[in-house]
Amino acid sequence: MRVPLLDLKEQYGKIKDEISLAIEEVVNSQCFILGPKVEELEREIAKYCGVRFAVGVASGSDALIISLRAIGVGYGDMVITSPFTFFATAGAIYNVGARPVFVDINPDTFNLDPGKISQFLRSLKREDLRKVKAIIPVHLFGQIAEMDDILRIAQEFGLKVIEDAAQAIGAEYNSQRAGSIGDLGCFSFFPSKNLGGYGDGGMIVTNDEKLAEKVKMLHLHGVNKSKYEHLIVGYNSRLDALQASILKVKLKYLDEWSEKRRRNAAYYNELFKETSLSSNSEYEALNSSKYPVILPRVSKGRRHIFNQYTIRIRRNKRDGLKKFLEKKGVGTAIYYPLPLHLQKCFCYLGHKEGDFPVAEKASKEVLSLPIYPELTNEMQEYVVQRIREYFRS
Ligand SMILES: Cc1ncc(COP(=O)(O)O)c(C=O)c1O
Repeated sequence: MRVPLLDLKEQYGKIKDEISLAIEEVVNSQCFILGPKVEELEREIAKYCGVRFAVGVASGSDALIISLRAIGVGYGDMVITSPFTFFATAGAIYNVGARPVFVDINPDTFNLDPGKISQFLRSLKREDLRKVKAIIPVHLFGQIAEMDDILRIAQEFGLKVIEDAAQAIGAEYNSQRAGSIGDLGCFSFFPSKNLGGYGDGGMIVTNDEKLAEKVKMLHLHGVNKSKYEHLIVGYNSRLDALQASILKVKLKYLDEWSEKRRRNAAYYNELFKETSLSSNSEYEALNSSKYPVILPRVSKGRRHIFNQYTIRIRRNKRDGLKKFLEKKGVGTAIYYPLPLHLQKCFCYLGHKEGDFPVAEKASKEVLSLPIYPELTNEMQEYVVQRIREYFRS
């Protein structure tokens, strides 16, 4: 049996006719840049996230850069984020001239540890504290970070919060949708996301009218009302009408697809617990070295949308297992094999191994399994059986 990490062709096959019609409509209109399709999608995403404003941009990376610019982050500033995320989060901070400041993660959720943010801020001298402008929590793999604590810290220290919700559209935190909790929320429509386009795309959401205005200006070269009047220097970062029309079709199915991912995650949990690879008791699974597999943990009050189903493999067996699964036709991925503080391009920050031990350990243990909505029970059973086989041998 072959079980790919992701199979977008299956999904496309089911919505092919609708997608073709949507593309045809845009091509017939010959309106490719901005226009009604983009505006309609912006309204629909704003409604979906429970916010007042949404602005389409060219990618999730641009969404982060433009959001940072919108809150006034620039040269010499510092922005706190996770070392265990996709590169774009810290890359965006660098690209606006600021310094990424890493804080370690919570081992259960892989998200920023608020206790460590607070500890870090309290350790700073006053002149450095003044440079810290914002926190970017990343809702990794589709689970929202500890937003209550993060917002409390942000308020105490006068910081803005930009949610990197690239992997978390539709995820919930005490019934609030991802992107709607901080000052600004950033989404990516990269094809592998729960809501993926047929190319690059992104969106910024906010409840703050002034920030929404600033974002709109920034994504169109800093233009205000008149086309050739530039109040600030911005970017050419637009979501195009073809992507918007495709995303409008897919948005209708997003909740159904995310629910299927959640069901698949529950089934994996069930299958693993029937084996001797992981314990039924969370305490035992974490504390007894008898169990080589640690299952994803979902915190209280969360709707995890499982952009990834990421397990931990202990005893230095992760890489061996990955290769074994590959040979058996099972696709897996390591998100992320090297934490950002150890990336060459960030060596000027002066970090070394051991600085963020939780993130470093995660990068050695994580393995993401296929979780896409069209995955069948038989495929999941095959995956878990092969993992069992590997540990038996
Ligand atoms: C956590 C996170 N942040 C930012 C991005 C950047 O999004 P994009 O690839 O659309 O630029 C991604 C996309 O992979 C991501 O996973």
